[in-house]
Amino acid sequence: MTGAAKTVKALTSSVEETRRLGAKLAKTVCQGDVFSLNGNIGSGKTEFVRGFVEALSSGVNVRSPTFSIVNTYPAPDFSIHHFDFYRIEDVREFSSIGLDEYINGDGVCLIEWGEMYPEVLPESVKRINFLEIDETTRAIETLFGFC
Ligand SMILES: Nc1ncnc2c1ncn2[C@@H]1O[C@H](COP(=O)(O)OP(=O)(O)O)[C@@H](O)[C@H]1O
Ligand SMILES: [Mg+2]
Repeated sequence: MTGAAKTVKALTSSVEETRRLGAKLAKTVCQGDVFSLNGNIGSGKTEFVRGFVEALSSGVNVRSPTFSIVNTYPAPDFSIHHFDFYRIEDVREFSSIGLDEYINGDGVCLIEWGEMYPEVLPESVKRINFLEIDETTRAIETLFGFC
């Protein structure tokens, strides 16, 4: 059988390790990929994205898009759109930010709290779950392989 999904379960014990995992994912992405990052506040989603973005575009300052909803960063071959759905209160807000154009565009989307609005995610979405185990340990799990 080919193409079987490989689950990745990683335990990271520092911010740097979580960023490294994000950087690893960055090396495997394809244009049009949409990732939904799920887990409580402080579980490491933004740090993971920081590692992802820094691996592709040097010298950028990744900031949480909690208030801006979306931040876009340039990478050599495509744009990286970093979303946070946490403060979205109504599904209608997505039309005012033009979410569909991002999701169906040729960039890469990383969406924190994506599962708050599963109805706006594409069928092809790739989910990453984050869990705070203790103060310095995070469990990061995907149903697709990238290591
Ligand atoms: N192994 C780890 N990986 C990522 N963050 C960690 C880890 N251990 C401790 N932390 C801390 O947890 C917090 C994670 O924050 P952040 O990435 O913004 O979370 P989220 O975006 O999921 O709310 C930071 O304060 C970071 O210093
Ligand atoms: Mg965050």
